Amino acid sequence: MVTCALVILAILAALLVVLSIYPGEFSWVSTRANRWLYDRGAATYEDKWQRHDYGAYAAIIADAAQSLEHEERPLQVLDLACGTGRATLFAAQYLPPTTRFTAVDYSRGMLEVFQSSVARSSRLDASDITWVECELAAWLDQCEQSFDLVLFMEAAEFVPGFSQLPAKIHSVCAPGAQLVMTRPAGLWGWMFPGRHQTRRALAACLGSAGFAQVRFVPWRSRYELLTAHR
Ligand SMILES: C[S@@+](CC[C@H](N)C(=O)[O-])C[C@H]1O[C@@H](n2cnc3c(N)ncnc32)[C@H](O)[C@@H]1O
Repeated sequence: MVTCALVILAILAALLVVLSIYPGEFSWVSTRANRWLYDRGAATYEDKWQRHDYGAYAAIIADAAQSLEHEERPLQVLDLACGTGRATLFAAQYLPPTTRFTAVDYSRGMLEVFQSSVARSSRLDASDITWVECELAAWLDQCEQSFDLVLFMEAAEFVPGFSQLPAKIHSVCAPGAQLVMTRPAGLWGWMFPGRHQTRRALAACLGSAGFAQVRFVPWRSRYELLTAHR
């Protein structure tokens, strides 16, 4: 009996340690839990990921941003599940200063860190960005704007009912728009039961939503990058 209690305590303690070190890793438990974890982990989120090489992540965003045709109107960029704004901050380096950004995330903590980074940025001004604190599928359902570049980085695996999401994203893409996103790769993908996507399944899902030219780019062991065009 005592041994059993000790084993249960040890398992609970181990779970707590993992959760405190890796906010987000168990986020498939529920969207509510995910949001809570990101709110709690927001202040240290950037430090946690600093150890990874974001060169390929930045490069694929730079390529997409530089290939957009500049028209008379300002370009519109959408950062879905923007977190602390890493993708927007990279993209802004390669886009004209007239570009407008919309950043959606349901974690207020993550949005606040993003807002602080923009306050320190010489490239972006808070007036260039519309921040939206909302669950992204719900936001996409009521969005009436269209975007030239959609960034959806390190987040697809957290969204329940992911297979319906590409069609929602496609519906807010302007003709010729580009989508840049990540796919959880390798064993990491299996951390998200029911949301794991093989390359082939994801390409098919994007294709049936109306995206073309799906191109995968290897990155780090947990994620690979991809681009697609409307
Ligand atoms: C791993 S972080 C990635 C942040 C950012 N895109 C980046 O590349 O650094 C995942 C983000 O997705 C957000 N998120 C997860 N599921 C979401 C949902 N269903 N609706 C809105 N935001 C969501 C979390 O709050 C978190 O900020």
